[in-house]
Amino acid sequence: MSNRLTVTGAGRIGLPLAVLAAKSGYEVVAVDRDPDLVAAIGAAAVTGQEPEVAELLDEAVASGRLTASTEPTAAPLQVICVPSPLTADGHADLAALEEAAESVGSVLRDGDLVVVETTVPVGTTEGLVRTALAKASGLAPESIRVAYSPERLLPGQTIAELISNARVVGAMTDADGAEAEAFYRSFVQGEVITTDTATAEFVKLSENAYRDINIAIANSLLLVARASGVDVHEARRIANLHPRVELLAPGPGVGGHCLTSDPIFLLDGTEGPDGELIASARSINDRMPAVVAQEIDTLTTRRPSTVLILGTAYKAGVGDERESPSLALGVELEALGHRVLLHDTVVPRGDDLASMVRDADVLALLVAHDAYAGLHDQLGQASDGLIVYDATGTLDAADWTAAARFGALGRPQIAP
Ligand SMILES: NC(=O)c1ccc[n+]([C@@H]2O[C@H](COP(=O)([O-])OP(=O)(O)OC[C@H]3O[C@@H](n4cnc5c(N)ncnc54)[C@H](O)[C@@H]3O)[C@@H](O)[C@H]2O)c1
Repeated sequence: MSNRLTVTGAGRIGLPLAVLAAKSGYEVVAVDRDPDLVAAIGAAAVTGQEPEVAELLDEAVASGRLTASTEPTAAPLQVICVPSPLTADGHADLAALEEAAESVGSVLRDGDLVVVETTVPVGTTEGLVRTALAKASGLAPESIRVAYSPERLLPGQTIAELISNARVVGAMTDADGAEAEAFYRSFVQGEVITTDTATAEFVKLSENAYRDINIAIANSLLLVARASGVDVHEARRIANLHPRVELLAPGPGVGGHCLTSDPIFLLDGTEGPDGELIASARSINDRMPAVVAQEIDTLTTRRPSTVLILGTAYKAGVGDERESPSLALGVELEALGHRVLLHDTVVPRGDDLASMVRDADVLALLVAHDAYAGLHDQLGQASDGLIVYDATGTLDAADWTAAARFGALGRPQIAP
């Protein structure tokens, strides 16, 4: 097996993969269309990556095993990690993937193996990718070798999860599967399972649809519980004592790139009621920022009020705002006539917390970042007289008796 590899798309997924492959002994070229990123990789000075990635990047560049380029680079193993966002009308936008496949195709030689890591609708690897590779390379379509291997990892623990998670590899033949598997086994300690490309694509999308549906169950129970005045957090705690029940925590919505788009990718090509559960889960979770906005609006005593949203990341502990429910909440509140201030300790966003609190009428905790733990003690009397709203289920109403009003998503409203 040759030990040369090109990774096309050196972002949150591609660069960690490239540095791990370099550490395992591969000679890696990271190809990206962003010249600033390419220069930063070459200088081992990339910003915005996790500390473990930065450390491995230092090692990889110093060892000479990792270089970077804006140009497609021939290698027997080509991995594609470019983004696959949603189009404005809610479909998979595969333009970057097609462009990357054409670029890889322009340097593809007979026998090279192309592994796609980009999240895609089922059938894309053997369809769009293989077609683009054949067209750009001029090679016979039947000789193009493609495989698919998705990433499933927790932001903040990228390197640890790349190494320890189980990995699925989908390929068209046993030989291609074995070759891709051998590459991943060079750094993966978890199980590596080989299957066909469509199953591997389906597995990735199913995992995130599963998460989205389970969060939607929690949010659905929250919405129903409101009508009966039940505290859904307490109900969940008790229900989870059942040995076969494991309700997730409800919240202000679902964000991040993967959970908001993968269920939609999964429904690609599905007609009628077959995808109903998956589609409804999406719409329940998408509705939550509007639900929170209504609750905050109900708590306010004047319009416009200035609402300070604490936490703009899509979930606790991450610095990523993509598809964040907090930003959607900001839009909803503005549509209701309120002013919105944004603060986040991890992204980071906003100014000094105490001075922002002084400008606010309402304090709305949306994300339970560690830095917001003990919020009441941090703010002291600065929060007295404010309206306080908790969308995270982590604030204790007893701490906020000096607030003008206190409300919490999923708990019966406390009267002023
Ligand atoms: N980030 C995650 O936690 C995560 C987890 C699982 C799966 N994924 C999937 O991995 C894929 C990549 O995501 P990401 O988070 O790394 O994206 P990203 O935006 O962080 O990085 C993508 C990189 O690709 C480059 N690029 C785009 N088009 C290109 C082209 N045609 N040629 C060369 N470079 C190109 C961009 O400049 C960018 O540097 C997506 O499909 C995503 O859904 C991401």
